[in-house]
Amino acid sequence: MANKMRVAQVTRAGGPLEIVERPIPEAPAGWVRIKVQACGICHSDSLVKEGLWPGLKYPRVPGHEVIGVVDALGENVTEWKVGERVGVGWHGGNCGHCDNCRRGDFFACTVDLKITGISFDGGYGEYMVAPSIAVARVPNELAPADGAPLMCAGITTFNALRNSNARPGDLVAVLGLGGLGHLAVQYATKMGYRTVGIARGKDKEPLARKLGAFHYINSQSQNPAAELTKLGGARVILATVTAGDAMSAVQGGLAPKGTLMIVGAAESMQVSPLLLIMGAREIRGWYSGTAIDSQDTLAFTVYSGVRSMNEVYPFEKVNEAYERMMSGKARFRAVVTMGS
Ligand SMILES: NC(=O)c1ccc[n+]([C@@H]2O[C@H](COP(=O)([O-])OP(=O)(O)OC[C@H]3O[C@@H](n4cnc5c(N)ncnc54)[C@H](OP(=O)(O)O)[C@@H]3O)[C@@H](O)[C@H]2O)c1
Ligand SMILES: [Zn+2]
Repeated sequence: MANKMRVAQVTRAGGPLEIVERPIPEAPAGWVRIKVQACGICHSDSLVKEGLWPGLKYPRVPGHEVIGVVDALGENVTEWKVGERVGVGWHGGNCGHCDNCRRGDFFACTVDLKITGISFDGGYGEYMVAPSIAVARVPNELAPADGAPLMCAGITTFNALRNSNARPGDLVAVLGLGGLGHLAVQYATKMGYRTVGIARGKDKEPLARKLGAFHYINSQSQNPAAELTKLGGARVILATVTAGDAMSAVQGGLAPKGTLMIVGAAESMQVSPLLLIMGAREIRGWYSGTAIDSQDTLAFTVYSGVRSMNEVYPFEKVNEAYERMMSGKARFRAVVTMGS
């Protein structure tokens, strides 16, 4: 319908995704409008859907794993052209002028930290607008549905690993094999680490091995910390799970000077101070990254042959896709596509 688009919005905490018609937005100065082709469903979208993000304003359109085409330019946008293939991730921009931004700590921006699908409407819709600084170029080799999960699940794990202290040949464990975890196993393998997959149950073992893990730990029948210790201890454990107790259970598997790198947004976990002290081990968190980090992720993904394993749903089935992700049954990322 001319000048109208469909979006899937959440109007209250815990409410469904409602598909509604809205006017196609104009791109404000410094922003671009994107015709969305595909959007991945990230577990972090539950922060919007279930109302877990403090101060969130409804209605809100979630979605921060977006691939599409630039459709219109706001004033003063010179770096993009209509028709260019682009992606948008979680990081929607920052003020650039506060002390933290000037120091390079963009994610600690205290003035205007924007988050896609949280502080402005995201990619569960036919069109969206995004600050031009938040937009990444997408290589031609990546089809929309293949590229979408890389805009959050991909960049977050790629960036966490490349900013960790692991070096090629080191033992690196990936805790949790969901949307993030199944990409993390592939990136870790392609980066030259000896990669271990850890997940609940037996059924993910063949997949973990196929994705590059040389060893698999079933956290339901084995003690992951003891198993990692038998292998010599992990230089890095990348925790992608949503459960704090699963993170607590692996820390004993770190080698001396090893790092538990946390990307899963669990509410809390138990830490053993003595374990950290004895061996100078550390626990760190990691936040996805900037648009340039996204471009690096996309380039490395194409170069190395990493591939997101996706279940693709038409936009109309966005609730089904979301529930599939929340159930933990998706193998491994649910993605909605917008048609033409
Ligand atoms: N730091 C960042 O920038 C960033 C970016 C994106 C996402 N996140 C967060 O990362 C987490 C994973 O996101 P995702 O999209 O990959 O989610 P997902 O596809 O739904 O996967 C969830 C993962 O959590 C694990 N899990 C769920 N319930 C569990 C339980 N009770 N005990 C142990 N493990 C459990 C699953 O483990 P199994 O494999 O064993 O089933 C699975 O690996 C979420 O918390 C999300 O909000 C953070
Ligand atoms: Zn995400």
